[in-house]
Amino acid sequence: MLYSEKVMDHFRNPRNVGEIENADGVGEVGNAKCGDIMKVYLKIDNDMVSDVKFKTFGCGSAIAASSMATEMIKGKPISEVLTLTNKAVVEALDGLPAHKIHCSVLAEEAVKAAVKDYYDKNGIAYDPEKFCDGNCECCHEHDGEE
Ligand code: FES
Repeated sequence: MLYSEKVMDHFRNPRNVGEIENADGVGEVGNAKCGDIMKVYLKIDNDMVSDVKFKTFGCGSAIAASSMATEMIKGKPISEVLTLTNKAVVEALDGLPAHKIHCSVLAEEAVKAAVKDYYDKNGIAYDPEKFCDGNCECCHEHDGEE
């Protein structure tokens, strides 16, 4: 089967779908390759993600990856959230087909963009290297990937 049971489960029954009013951080990213859009909302208390929701105009793999990614960061300190990789999300889903890996990148980037928004709004200093500006090597790789 092309998709693992976990992918199908998170696709059919995605966790944390929706919006958070007055979110502390909102991240919206678009995927250059497929044109899909992902938006992540974070509620942050004491440096911890107390709530997270997402909305996507993305494919099934993007939905499954975001559902899993939001489950993985819920209740976690921001420092840990920033170490989230799309690879870890894909592993937690028991894999994605190679041509769908970029969909999990969308989830990772939206989560990080939301943390960056939180930092920006609160005047918290951060290392810009930890955040993708859409212009890094990995993005160019995604652009070229088929
Ligand atoms: Fe666009 Fe999956 S094809 S996010």
